[in-house]
Amino acid sequence: MEYRIATISGDGIGPEIVREAKKVLDKVGQKYGHNFNYEEVLMGGISIDTYGVPLTDEALETAKKSDAVLLGAVGGNVGNSRWYDVAPNLRPEAGLLAIRKGLNLFANIRPAYLYNDLAGACPLKQEIIGDGFDMVIVRELTGGLYFGERHTETVNGVEQATDTLVYSEKEIRRVAIKAFEIAMKRKKKVTSVDKANVLDSSRLWRKVVAEVAKDYPEVTLENMLVDNCAMQLVMNPRQFDVILTENMFGDILSDEASMITGSIGMLSSASLNESKFGLYEPSHGSAPDIAGKDIANPIATILSAAMMLRFSFDLDKEADAIEDAVRKVLAEGYRTVDIMDEDKKQVGTTEMGNLICDRI
Ligand code: NAI
Ligand code: MG
Repeated sequence: MEYRIATISGDGIGPEIVREAKKVLDKVGQKYGHNFNYEEVLMGGISIDTYGVPLTDEALETAKKSDAVLLGAVGGNVGNSRWYDVAPNLRPEAGLLAIRKGLNLFANIRPAYLYNDLAGACPLKQEIIGDGFDMVIVRELTGGLYFGERHTETVNGVEQATDTLVYSEKEIRRVAIKAFEIAMKRKKKVTSVDKANVLDSSRLWRKVVAEVAKDYPEVTLENMLVDNCAMQLVMNPRQFDVILTENMFGDILSDEASMITGSIGMLSSASLNESKFGLYEPSHGSAPDIAGKDIANPIATILSAAMMLRFSFDLDKEADAIEDAVRKVLAEGYRTVDIMDEDKKQVGTTEMGNLICDRI
């Protein structure tokens, strides 16, 4: 089969990790007889430098016409970069928000899974992590604070800034359905995380999620306040199966969950709409501090490519092949610096990609 993949290498470590994921996809293609055709699309800082905007209409169109999008990361040093001394809608991350909105990618699926061989890289005590950690965060991605109206003004000589958090019933329902569908294939538990003791949007969230839950009688629904959830994640992370939450809470909680898996360089993600189309990207950013050094961990991006094969292309055994290869490489003791442990073999970005390819 032929597949059209729009690739967005982006900024910082983006080009390095996307290159490794493409290498792995090509190996899978060779072995299983598929053709993955890539079209590179500019987004973020590199698009600003080339076109003056973080995402052009043409770039969005190319992404729309593809079968799936593979993304590295965008952005630079926030405090110290020419890309940030401009209006928010002209910054690199605006490209990311625009493509999510433009493709209606309302559900961000982030599996947080601790490989057995990485137990040493997990900062939690052995008795807390027990024999493993395996959960999925379903984060609403096109609503909430990141998309609400915002402005800065001066009132009576004092500067003030406003952000708004808006959710409609429809936005909550569609992402809740995704979470329950995922839970049905797992341990059948959804923990819906909100701040219903304070926020009206959270009260609506809770009501709509409870309605959706009625269609999934086999799934246990639990509600949890976000501050408690932040604590529970480090105190008793194994209680979770699927966490369903709004945009900003999901952003924060998934970085927290990623550390339990050893490194943010391990956390893959899929951003989905109601069709088979998806955008696949690591959960981390462009890591400008380590860009260009061939030390970034490419595994989150490679596992995101595996998610693409599984969700968008229904290529389950091919996705399994990638995941098995990652497991083998870790079991053999190869580590990038972010997951390095005593008596392990440290490798760079390129070598990690090669080792995974060799095991497919
Ligand atoms: P970050 O995720 O880029 O980096 C946080 C820390 O994790 C850094 O110390 C970095 O070196 C390390 N790290 C990240 N990915 C790694 C990998 N694959 N292997 C090894 N270490 C890794 O977050 P930060 O520093 O807050 O943001 C940097 C830039 O990325 C900013 O411009 C930010 O806006 C942007 N960003 C972009 C995202 C995206 O494109 N989806 C998501 C998050 C941030
Ligand atoms: Mg984030």
